[in-house]
Amino acid sequence: MFATVAIVGAGPAGLLLARMLHNAGIDSIVLEHRDRAYVEHRQRAGMLEQGTVDALRACGAAERLDREGLVHHGIELRFDRRSHHLDFPALTGGRSVMIYAQTEIVKDLVALQLAEGGPLLFEAEAIAIEDDTLTFVRDGVKERLGFDFVVGCDGFHGISRAAIPDARVYEREYPYSWLGILADVPPSCEELIYAHSERGFALHSMRSPTVSRLYLQVPNDTDPDDWPDDRIWDELDARFAVDTDWKLMRGPITQKAVTPMRSFVTEPMRHGRLFLAGDAAHIVPPTGAKGLNLAISDVVTLAKALQHWFTTGSPDLLNTYSDTCLRRVWRAEHFSYFMTTLLHRTPDQTPFDTRLQLSQLHRIADSRHAAAELAENYAGLP
Ligand code: FAD
Ligand code: DHB
Repeated sequence: MFATVAIVGAGPAGLLLARMLHNAGIDSIVLEHRDRAYVEHRQRAGMLEQGTVDALRACGAAERLDREGLVHHGIELRFDRRSHHLDFPALTGGRSVMIYAQTEIVKDLVALQLAEGGPLLFEAEAIAIEDDTLTFVRDGVKERLGFDFVVGCDGFHGISRAAIPDARVYEREYPYSWLGILADVPPSCEELIYAHSERGFALHSMRSPTVSRLYLQVPNDTDPDDWPDDRIWDELDARFAVDTDWKLMRGPITQKAVTPMRSFVTEPMRHGRLFLAGDAAHIVPPTGAKGLNLAISDVVTLAKALQHWFTTGSPDLLNTYSDTCLRRVWRAEHFSYFMTTLLHRTPDQTPFDTRLQLSQLHRIADSRHAAAELAENYAGLP
């Protein structure tokens, strides 16, 4: 078996790359370890930067997104029992964000790939990458796939990263996790609420006009079974409490999961014919909503570089791929770290630490400069 570009992983990065290459007339094969239902239902991100939406539109994958996506013109920061709205278009020169679930992006891209694109093999696990060949296992049988280029879009737990020798790794773990829920209840807000409280962080997001997505900071190694529905709603109520008549609507919780938080970068993102993209190369804690957006940005850069190589024979963009991506990655790493440490409570938090957090939150609420810095990073740098 041979593909000009072998793609490992059918998350958003691998699927979008396959779509962009297909549109550019470059053939690829996508290998995905899990089955189709699993990748289409894994609950994850929901907040898309303008650049991500633009990339999906440009490759013809935004038909449903344009119908069902919810445009948001800002977020609310909540602290000291008060709400502060950040108006993104006013602070960023017109930029907005969109809520559309990662699961829906994956469904849209899988459907397009199966209808129009090259092979997308589910339940095909890559186990080794060599110079010009990849070995994978399907139905218990080892198979080999030759390639001109191979792209590791296989997420944080994939195998591609290990094929880059002498990589430098930068990493940080956090002393807390997120308990995320999906609930069949209309959102209690029009825009996302990021709440700082004495009891820890909480986030109110949404999936549709009838489905809410909420997150609570919890200790590491929390068992979701220790959080019956009433306990979750009571805790959310306490953390979102404000001095107005705002009320959090409750409804049946349909999913619960705990996610650890990590910052991670591996450098470089390329070795010879192997390129890494998305979570395979970098992880951010989810507070800044950057992970999916970075994954998309990587593959947009890579698709352009591959297209440039195949149309002009020039390796220039392939050679700068890693540096170009890492500049954006490190900005997102800093922003995600900033949002995370601004809003979460550490197990050994002192009153001094809390005062510093509140001082910074007041600064953002009071200063257009400070608010614009947050808004520009959140809505996505060009
Ligand atoms: P993945 O989605 O992890 O896909 C990798 C794929 O590779 C998987 O399908 C996996 O099965 C497959 N694979 C792995 N190993 C192999 C192998 N050996 N062979 C074949 N296939 C393999 N980001 C945002 O931008 N905004 C948000 O609001 C946001 N919220 C989040 C909330 C939560 C709770 C979580 C957990 C994450 C959130 N993120 C968010 C991060 C975002 O979900 C990830 O950054 C994104 O999924 C990265 O996409 P990817 O394609 O690089 O990797
Ligand atoms: C969502 C997740 C995030 O991490 C975030 O910062 C904003 C929204 C979400 O799942 O909707």
